[in-house]
Amino acid sequence: MSTARGQFSSRTGFVLAAAGSAVGLGNVWGFPTQVVSNGGGAFVIVYVVLAFGLAYPALMAELIIGRFAGANVVTALHKLQADGAGRKFAYVIGIASIIVASLILSFYAIVAGWLLAFLAAAVLDLFAASAPWLVDDSILRNLIFTGLFYFLTVVIVAFGVEAGIERSSKILMPLFLVLLIAMTAHVLTLPGASDGLAIYLVPDFSRLTDPGLIISALGQAFFSLSLGVGAMLIYGSYLSRDENLPSVGALVTLFDSSIAILAGLLIVPAIAVAQHKGLSVFAADGSMIAGPDIAFVVFPPLFESMGAVGLLVGLAFFALMSITALTSSISMLEVPVSLLIEKTSVSRPAAAIFAGFMVFLVSAAIIGQFDPLFDFVITLTTQYSVPLISLFFCIFVTWLWSRNSALQEIQQGFPDAESSLFWKIWPWYAKFLCPLLIVAVFIQSVFH
Ligand code: PHE
Repeated sequence: MSTARGQFSSRTGFVLAAAGSAVGLGNVWGFPTQVVSNGGGAFVIVYVVLAFGLAYPALMAELIIGRFAGANVVTALHKLQADGAGRKFAYVIGIASIIVASLILSFYAIVAGWLLAFLAAAVLDLFAASAPWLVDDSILRNLIFTGLFYFLTVVIVAFGVEAGIERSSKILMPLFLVLLIAMTAHVLTLPGASDGLAIYLVPDFSRLTDPGLIISALGQAFFSLSLGVGAMLIYGSYLSRDENLPSVGALVTLFDSSIAILAGLLIVPAIAVAQHKGLSVFAADGSMIAGPDIAFVVFPPLFESMGAVGLLVGLAFFALMSITALTSSISMLEVPVSLLIEKTSVSRPAAAIFAGFMVFLVSAAIIGQFDPLFDFVITLTTQYSVPLISLFFCIFVTWLWSRNSALQEIQQGFPDAESSLFWKIWPWYAKFLCPLLIVAVFIQSVFH
């Protein structure tokens, strides 16, 4: 079976694919919104500290397990231990991570469907045509465009690791970056943008020790690095043994945090520009419009108010958002797909179609029962499941596996690992500090 497994063809290919998974709606929406509601620059500082101090070690746990095992999540966790009880536990955590990956995909694809519908509307706008149903919320529209998004995700995953995931990331990630930089540069020249910059960058230091802020920053950091669902584990399983794991992991973390910070330089000033133009940026309850509504409620009138340039800016914005959602969703779908391929005899395309269709059904159920289900699934997965499963991945690597095996794995592609700073810190850090801090934050968030 192992010969049939795919592999990333180069370090760049892996870093772009893993960064593609990490950079997503969490960076472009989640991060800027959280910054605004959590003390501006203070949140940025706490976030960066937690991303490197806590999320990076947890990312390393997934990459090490993945590359060592060269297998899907369930098999990979199995391979770490010999005895019966540990293997049962591995099975439970493995299956749980696959369910959580699928559930995250189920709501992610709905938001991505909205983005595709607005992208289609922006394209029509360019030709002075319009189809109001594209931007009016309806069950039918949501089903069609969410379905379309699944179709794109399934096609890429069906092509496999190198021809699908790696190739698409190599095209989409640079395109995403160019669009992001161009849009940020443009928005920063507009009147009112500097007010947004001030909100974004000036830290309210009194918030630095606020437990609520720390919990949000931690959840954001884990979600943003695609942790706790096996996505990074499975990408790690396609990484060559010649690569230096701690350094590729650091590159991905750096890439992800930088894009989050850059996205904030676009989104927060854009909201301020909208406010400057007299457009409404506050919801009915007086709070600042946050989350998806920024894109669907605040920005369209802003683009419209920009005249002809606005047509292009709107198009670029929805293209950018759709692209970043797609490079993340393929990594979510790969989690169940890799299990199906390796545990049954189905082909990759069949596994991709089957898993994609099953998760689409979950999305369809959420679309049908939007109010009770949408927020519930988001909270359940991002706030509770992701940190918990990450915690177990850390425990598997450091408590249930031998320290020597972990070292041997890291030494592949990094012969001097044993004397490195990474090896001096990471083993005890991932063994004691990470689990402890995750539990502390988790308890806080449950009783918050
Ligand atoms: N990291 C992605 C984001 O920031 C979300 C994601 C979560 C992707 C889990 C894959 C797996 O939007």
